[in-house]
Amino acid sequence: MDPAVSPDAAAPLRFPPHFLWGTATAAYQIEGAVDEDGRTPSIWDTYSHTPGRVRNGDTGDIATDHYHRWPEDIELMSGLGVGAYRFSVSWPRVQPTGRGPASAKGLDFYRRLADALLAKGIEPVVTLYHWDLPQHLEDAGGWPERDTALRFAEYAGLVADALGDRVKTWTTLNEPWCSAFLGYGSGVHAPGRTDPADALRAAHHLNLGHGLAVAALRERLPEDARISVTLNLHHVRPLTDSAADRDAARRIDGLANRVFTGPMLGGAYPADVIEDTASVTDWSFVHDGDPALIHQPLDILGVNYYSPTLVSHHDGPPLHGADGHGASDHTPWPGADHVAFHQTPGERTAMGWTIDPSGLYELLLRVRDDHPGLPLMITENGSAFDDYAGPDGAVRDPERVAYLHGHLTAVHRAIEAGADVRGYFLWSLLDNFEWGYGYSKRFGTVYVDYATQRRIPKSSAHWYAKLTRNGTLPPRD
Ligand code: FCB
Repeated sequence: MDPAVSPDAAAPLRFPPHFLWGTATAAYQIEGAVDEDGRTPSIWDTYSHTPGRVRNGDTGDIATDHYHRWPEDIELMSGLGVGAYRFSVSWPRVQPTGRGPASAKGLDFYRRLADALLAKGIEPVVTLYHWDLPQHLEDAGGWPERDTALRFAEYAGLVADALGDRVKTWTTLNEPWCSAFLGYGSGVHAPGRTDPADALRAAHHLNLGHGLAVAALRERLPEDARISVTLNLHHVRPLTDSAADRDAARRIDGLANRVFTGPMLGGAYPADVIEDTASVTDWSFVHDGDPALIHQPLDILGVNYYSPTLVSHHDGPPLHGADGHGASDHTPWPGADHVAFHQTPGERTAMGWTIDPSGLYELLLRVRDDHPGLPLMITENGSAFDDYAGPDGAVRDPERVAYLHGHLTAVHRAIEAGADVRGYFLWSLLDNFEWGYGYSKRFGTVYVDYATQRRIPKSSAHWYAKLTRNGTLPPRD
C-alpha cells in the first residue's frame, strides 16, 4: 500500500492540537518597490534586468506590490485562518550596501508588518536570506568569497536588534542549495555564474554564514527564540537497485543534502562528498575550525518539499539540465557528470514536477532517523497550475486542493510514524515572481491579477481555511 494514502478514507485525519498552520512568501517575489526608501539592487534585480535571463523579461520591480498592499495581504491571511506567516527580509532594503549601518526605513517596514501580524494573532516567522544578496556584495565576489559569510552574520545581528522583541521564530537561509548550485553552478538563478568550484565555495560560505548568523542571533535574542534553517532536502531515489544507480543516488544525496546537513547538524563535511568533487576543488577554502562554527544547535529544521528526484548511473557524455531545476549547458551538480536525471512517473504540476506525496513521507522518516530529537517544520510545500479567473470571477483550483490533500495526508502519516513535524506552511500566499519563470507560474492560494493587482482567493484558499479552523483535513471537494 502507498504509505501516503489513508487506509480508511472515511476517517478524517486530525493533526496534533498545537500544530502550526501557515503560509509563506519571499521578499523579492512579492514586495516590488525596488528603489523605494533607500533599497539598493539585489542580485535578482540585476539578473532579472539582464535580457534573456527570466522568462518574458519579467522582473520583480512591481511584483505583487506587497510593499504597499501589505495590510490587504494580512487581511487575506486572516481569511485563511493561519497562525503563522513566513516571510523574508530583503537584505538590500535593510542594509543597502551590504555592510555598515542599517536603514531605519527598511527596518520600519518589517516592524510594522510584524506588529500588524501580531495584532491579528498571526506569528511572524522571519527568513533572513531568501536569495536577494545586495549587488554590492556580489560585486565584491559574492558567496564564493568568505567575507560574504561575515557580512551575513552582521546583517543578521542588525535584524535581530530591530525585530527580536517581536519575532520568536527565525530562519537563517532559505534553500542554500539553490543559492550555491543554481546561482554559481548552472547559472539559472542569480547571479547567473557557472563555475563548479565557485558553487562549492559558495555552499561552504553559505554554511559558514549560517553558523555565524545563528551565533549572532543567540547573542541578541531572548532564551525562548527558535532558530532554524530551511533546506530543500531532496528525496533521491535510484532508478534501479543496481550498485551503479545506488551510487548515483548517494552522490546526488551528498551534493543536495549532506553538504549542508553534514556541517550544520553533524559538524563535518561528508568524506564521500569531498572525494566525489576532488577533481573540481581541493576544499582548501574550509579553514580549521569552520565546521565547528557551522555546527550550532538548532531549535527547528525547516524542510521544503515539492517533488522527488530519480537518478541513474550514466556512461555517456554529461547530460545537463534534466533535473527539473531549469535548462542550462552547465551542471548544478559538480563531480556528478555520470548521473542521469529521470522524470518520476505520474501526474505533474505546471512546473513539470511530478506529484508524489510518498516522497515527502519517506523524506520525513529519513530525517526522523538521521536527526532524532530535531523538531521539523514544513516551511514550503505547494504547486503551480495554470489558474485563471472564470466568467463569474472565481478561481477554481481543484488540482491544488488535491496536491495539498495528498501531501498533508503524507505529513499526517509521517507524524503517526514518529516524525516530529510541528507545522506546515503552504507555498504560497499569493501568485508571485517565480524566479527564472517570472510570472508564468502561479503558486498562490490567492490569485493575483497582475494588471490590476486585484487579489482573489482561489478555491484552495477556502479549503485551507477549513483545515486551519479545526486541524482536521477536509475532503478534497
Ligand atoms: C522554492 C523557493 C520558493 C519558490 C518555490 C516554488 O525553491 O524557495 O521561493 O520559488 O520553490
